[in-house]
Amino acid sequence: MTYKLQILPGDGIGPEIMTEAEKIISWLNANKDIEIQTTRGLIGGAAIDEYGVPLSDETLEESRKSHAVLLGAVGGPKWADVEYTIRPEAGLLKIRKELGLFANLRPALVFDALVDASTLKPEIVKGLDILIVRELTGGVYFGQPRGIEDLGNGQRRGVNTQVYTTEEIQRVGRVAFELARKRGNKVTSCEKANVMESGKLWREDITSLHQAEYKDVTLEHMYADNCAMQLLRNPSQFDVIVTDNLFGDILSDEAAMLTGSLGMLPSASLGQPGSTGLYEPVHGSAPDIAGQGKANPLATILSLAMCLRYSFNRGDLASKIEDAVQTILNDGTRTPDIMAPGCTQTSTSGMGDALITQLEKTGKKEQAA
Ligand code: IPM
Ligand code: MG
Repeated sequence: MTYKLQILPGDGIGPEIMTEAEKIISWLNANKDIEIQTTRGLIGGAAIDEYGVPLSDETLEESRKSHAVLLGAVGGPKWADVEYTIRPEAGLLKIRKELGLFANLRPALVFDALVDASTLKPEIVKGLDILIVRELTGGVYFGQPRGIEDLGNGQRRGVNTQVYTTEEIQRVGRVAFELARKRGNKVTSCEKANVMESGKLWREDITSLHQAEYKDVTLEHMYADNCAMQLLRNPSQFDVIVTDNLFGDILSDEAAMLTGSLGMLPSASLGQPGSTGLYEPVHGSAPDIAGQGKANPLATILSLAMCLRYSFNRGDLASKIEDAVQTILNDGTRTPDIMAPGCTQTSTSGMGDALITQLEKTGKKEQAA
């Protein structure tokens, strides 16, 4: 089967981590029964420099024509002062919105080999496997009215609007319940129903969806601030967390850090079944280390694995990549962000090469068997 994948490296470390993902794509094309046809485009600051906008219509058109998009990271100090609507981040928000990617899946998985990388005690995070499902195209990041108005008396007023409809809440809720059924069968839904109407609606709509279609899944409601606290106190109580755009942005960074390195965490953004999926590492563009070969490419490579699983229907190939990552980590291969005593430090490209070597090895073993 042939799949079209659009590659948008973006800014900062984006291009160098993407080079490593492209190595894996070439390896898959050469060695497995899959054909991934790639195109390349610009997003974020790179697109601003070239076209004056963070996501051009042509690039977006190409995204729509692809089965999936693999994105690096956007942003950097160079574009920090431009207007919100044409900032690098606006390109990211636009591609999510235009492709209708309302469900953002952010797994926080603690690899055994990295259990000491967490700032929490190993016994708290060992074996941790949480999936945050963040609503991605609604809420306060998109709500109208928004803006900064001049009150004329030397004062200004900044406004953003938190807004959700039943449809928006239930379609992301459905994704969370479906995924929970394939995992630990538990969903924790987070909002601030104690102070926000949109939170009260969220709770009611998730409850009625649960009653109507997912009674076999355990559902728990939690205030988002309590969830932030529980994630540090006893993270293994969670299986799937479903929450809105803003709380999901924050809670997913927190959950990510339980694992010790943002450099390890992939994400998938999905819309209606069959539509283009977007895959990107959870980390940012890290301009401070860009171009130095220090960045960890594993979050991007694991995002590619998620792409194989959710957009190309090849969970088998996804598992192969994930297993190979696990093995090279067990062997002590480390980029600087996850370096530990007794391990071997390597570069961005060294990590990609180690992974290819490992995939080759398991390939040979399979042939022999
Ligand atoms: C994320 C990022 C983005 C967001 C920014 C870069 C717009 O923080 O993907 O979590 O807020 O969604
Ligand atoms: Mg974020």
